[in-house]
Amino acid sequence: MLVLDGKIASAAVKQEILAQTEVILSSGKRAPHLAAILVGTNGASETYVASKVKNCEEVGFMSTLIRLESDVAESVLLEAIASLNNDPTVDGILVQLPLPKQISEQKVIEAIDPLKDVDGFHPSSAGKLVQGLPTFIPATPYGIMLMLEHFDIPTKGKHAVVIGRSNIVGRPMSILLSSNLKRGNCTVTICHSHTPNLKEVCLSADIIVAALGKPEFVKADMVKEGAVIIDVGITRVEDATAKKGFRIKGDVAYAEVSPKASAITPVPGGVGLMTIAGLLKNTLQAYLTTQQ
Ligand code: GUN
Repeated sequence: MLVLDGKIASAAVKQEILAQTEVILSSGKRAPHLAAILVGTNGASETYVASKVKNCEEVGFMSTLIRLESDVAESVLLEAIASLNNDPTVDGILVQLPLPKQISEQKVIEAIDPLKDVDGFHPSSAGKLVQGLPTFIPATPYGIMLMLEHFDIPTKGKHAVVIGRSNIVGRPMSILLSSNLKRGNCTVTICHSHTPNLKEVCLSADIIVAALGKPEFVKADMVKEGAVIIDVGITRVEDATAKKGFRIKGDVAYAEVSPKASAITPVPGGVGLMTIAGLLKNTLQAYLTTQQ
């Protein structure tokens, strides 16, 4: 069984990005620049955004973090986005989700200039992905594709089962895996909360992408011998014995599933790190398409 180690794969991607940044800087140009907006103080969002900023530094990018109070008016957030859209020194913009109730996530997503939409959530980016046109690919599915490439996991002709149909992971993942790409050409089934025979569908999968956000949902009796298991779950589960008071759990029961798998991503240390690699790739792409 091969552990699909996100530390190894993301380090390789980041090394390539750093090399490209160095070429840019040595030619006297400014570095790529990511601006992140964090609304409120959600613990998980704080951690993710801090990690995104830190990773920007590691590959030589500039980053700006804009923090807004949790009770901020939607109009204030939209103005902050407009100002970043109009700032020629900002290449990529991301607004960390989820957002507080008074703010429409859809309005916010649509307010971001598609040329700076490094999360790939704008309907224009999503539409291009569906049509196989060049665009920003949402960071998590992009990171998973980079992971499959790094570890040379064959996909052509395989049956991939994606559990979860979110705009952030499940749906774009299903499009990528079914597309005519080097790591695509799968036959894809998307499962969700209304799928009645989920266990049977999963048992026929060569590749399972679990992205439903339910800790340890995928059990050994749902997995075919030799399947490739991609675990997107990162739920914080309370645990008084843990230092921080919680543990991060994936959507896959790793201990019982891993002996059956031919390859599996750990949680933490798997897909989460690749998400950041995908975001950095998108930021570099945003820079290169507008600066060169
Ligand atoms: N919340 C969970 N995943 C993501 C992501 O990829 N981007 C943003 N902006 N928010 C998220």
